[in-house]
Amino acid sequence: MDVGSSPLWDLRHLFQTDTEFVSFREKWQEKEKKLRDSIKQVLKCDVHQNNPLHPVELEPVDCLMTSLCLEAACKDKAAYCTAVRNVTSLLKPGGMLIMITVLNETFYTVDKHKFSCLKFDQAFLEKTLKEAGYEIEQLENFIIPKTINTISDCDAAIFLVARKKECFVLNQ
Ligand SMILES: C[S@@+](CC[C@H](N)C(=O)[O-])C[C@H]1O[C@@H](n2cnc3c(N)ncnc32)[C@H](O)[C@@H]1O
Repeated sequence: MDVGSSPLWDLRHLFQTDTEFVSFREKWQEKEKKLRDSIKQVLKCDVHQNNPLHPVELEPVDCLMTSLCLEAACKDKAAYCTAVRNVTSLLKPGGMLIMITVLNETFYTVDKHKFSCLKFDQAFLEKTLKEAGYEIEQLENFIIPKTINTISDCDAAIFLVARKKECFVLNQ
């Protein structure tokens, strides 16, 4: 399940970078087509709700992916921690979270439109995931030089894979 995407959203930025993190055997166009063809359903989602898919109730899923969504949706760190827990409720124990996020970003632009973004560092991100019951299995930090970044003020992009622990009691 991909949290925080629109079916109309251009997915190319997820595929066009041939990073060491994921080695692509197929060309990105083939990857994108395969992903689009495998979409079974598109549901409304609000990460601020306890059940982000409300009123739809789904069986917990094996894998949750979220790209550049939570930091765009949350006004402050408390809301971010709650949103992480809300989306985590959609995932099976032992299931995998794939997250793409950015560090220290206060804004991003799409065409001429400027959007605000919640600023946080890697320590906050790791702590939030740990407190939501995840073990981070892989994390790559790609520093983005200010000189080449014309669409936002982030310092780095993070690509991570985390496993939701089988047994975990959330501190309320
Ligand atoms: C920067 S865009 C990222 C879009 C896409 N996932 C990507 O990686 O290109 C931020 C996304 O967050 C979504 N979003 C904003 N507030 C949200 C909320 N409360 N619940 C779920 N998604 C939200 C927006 O609809 C938008 O698609």
